Amino acid sequence: MAVMRLKEGVYEVGAVDWDRELFDELIPLPDGTSYNAYLVRGREKVALLDTVDPSKVSVLMNNLDSLGVDEIHYVISHHCEQDHSGSIPAVLERYPGAKVVTNPKCKGMLQDHLHIPEEKFMEISDGEEISLGGKTLRFMYTPWVHWPETMVTYLPEDRILFTCDLFGSHMATSDLYMRDERRVYLAAKRYYAEIMMPFRNLIKEHIKKVESLGIDLIAPSHGPVYDDPGFILDAYRDWTSDHVKKEVIIPYVSMHGSTEAMVQHLVDTLMAKGVKVTPYNLSTTDLGDLASSLVDAAAVVVASPTVLTGPHPKAVYATYLVNALRPKTRFVSLMGSYGWGGRMPEMITEGLKNMKVDIIEPVMIKGHPSTQDFKEIERLAGDLADKLETC
Ligand code: FEO
Repeated sequence: MAVMRLKEGVYEVGAVDWDRELFDELIPLPDGTSYNAYLVRGREKVALLDTVDPSKVSVLMNNLDSLGVDEIHYVISHHCEQDHSGSIPAVLERYPGAKVVTNPKCKGMLQDHLHIPEEKFMEISDGEEISLGGKTLRFMYTPWVHWPETMVTYLPEDRILFTCDLFGSHMATSDLYMRDERRVYLAAKRYYAEIMMPFRNLIKEHIKKVESLGIDLIAPSHGPVYDDPGFILDAYRDWTSDHVKKEVIIPYVSMHGSTEAMVQHLVDTLMAKGVKVTPYNLSTTDLGDLASSLVDAAAVVVASPTVLTGPHPKAVYATYLVNALRPKTRFVSLMGSYGWGGRMPEMITEGLKNMKVDIIEPVMIKGHPSTQDFKEIERLAGDLADKLETC
């Protein structure tokens, strides 16, 4: 990735990862990602804000070379996760006079994960500033986006907020700035859903903390920079709000067609009632799409056959995901079929213990759905439609 200039003395020096397909061995990356790092040159001092994933350290070094950087005084570490911190040891080796500037929590985590020696650190407190000479770095703690040590940096002279993961998007692009609003919106929403959603109430407070700053640019460490900060701030205000959309999403898996027939009838009945509904076949769906839909859907119906007395493992996984992401979903129900018995509804309900939801009477049937079973599915569709009217 080429060096890109944001303002006089402020450069993006990170790397685009066009080919990465998975993050944390868990999250699919259909659009690749980037590890943005920023160099800020003041009259007296030079600071590097975050680094890159270790797999891209040569790109970072080449970019620093191309800017003729022969000294770095400060390496600002906003977040310990290795896609931003993993190249700090290499930077310290090349620039031995540099200090790692971070908060005490992040310092401890960097010591644990990267074994950076104590003498290399400079601790800062919330609101503290460092002057580089004509450029000031103001550090603001923003914990739990999405780890406990996270923080952001404001550069008041250039009105830039460096946010690391916050407001980011997993997106490989040659554009420095957001150009394709729709594409970036969906990528940022997916990213929010996958890692930020469980912390939405804290993120609301962080937005209040930064929104009074004069901001021209929001520079995250994944995806493009926002030269219209209101775009991503408004999106985050919406996603973190208590507002839900009148939509039902149905993560489901079917082995022999019975559960699928139930899902199809529920979908058709809801559609006939004018209710927005989206089924997600867990055998083929991209879990990032499912997570994105959880950001604002009012209702979730998990549908599964019975396997060895419990839900299908794919339904267990989806339930675990929903429970861990803590969406603002208000209503949950269950559907499924069984051959001779089982505890599927109890086990799914137990798996959703983080969710403060209204559980709507499930529909469990024996074998393939009968005419009477389809009527029971219509009852569930009616209950869902009535509940959505209360949102
Ligand atoms: Fe981009 Fe939480 O690391």
